[in-house]
Amino acid sequence: MSNKQRLLQRYTDGDRMNHWVIALLFVLAAASGLAFFHPSLYFLSSLLGGGVWARILHPFIGLAMVLAFALLFAKLWRDNLLNEADKEWRKHSGDMLRGDKSKMPPVGKYNAGQKGVFWLMSACLLILLVTGVMFWQPWFASSFPILLRRFAVVLHAASAVGLILGVIMHVYAAIWVKGTVRAMTRGTVTEAWAKQNHALWHRDMTGGK
Ligand code: HEM
Repeated sequence: MSNKQRLLQRYTDGDRMNHWVIALLFVLAAASGLAFFHPSLYFLSSLLGGGVWARILHPFIGLAMVLAFALLFAKLWRDNLLNEADKEWRKHSGDMLRGDKSKMPPVGKYNAGQKGVFWLMSACLLILLVTGVMFWQPWFASSFPILLRRFAVVLHAASAVGLILGVIMHVYAAIWVKGTVRAMTRGTVTEAWAKQNHALWHRDMTGGK
């Protein structure tokens, strides 16, 4: 079999199902959240059946998204720790963005850009969870002083913006680096893709053969 046709396993079926559940919950939480943010975006609440349903469901959807993400986080956080190879990669990231991948040093399962987005998503989701609970009526809001709740609302909105920008970067990069999306749709990538984009991971997976 030629090198190009050999496939490497990147995600399990369970991880992929979980990822797409997170993506779906993200769309629903983001749409309903944006609907509360500004009247011009109120039409987005119709995705959940109108304003009342959006208001009731948004916190539960957000909570489910954080719990699902926590499962993915538990499996992937070690692969997302920055290391020496990432420092080298970062020095050349400008060349890559200009379209020249020839000088890119080898990296492991994820590159520094992916790792940055992973930690941005994780931090934003944690802040969204903590601040969201602080003004979740009628359950928990009354336990927190009003000034703290107001501060929580601002932080909640800021971290939602951070998460939305992170997801836009994430999706753009997944489409931009050809052959990446299949990692999450089929669970496998081609050996050529792995060699080109994650040479150290390729070496670990194949023993260099
Ligand atoms: C339509 C939307 C999305 C698409 C097309 C997409 C696509 C992908 C692809 C192709 C990968 C595999 C990348 C690789 O292995 O190199 C991936 C990984 C991942 N995705 Fe998504 N994704 C989407 C939405 C989301 C959302 C909304 C979140 C979280 C809020 C998310 C979190 C992750 C995480 C944590 C990983 C593992 C990468 C890492 O650990 O650094 N994705 N996604």
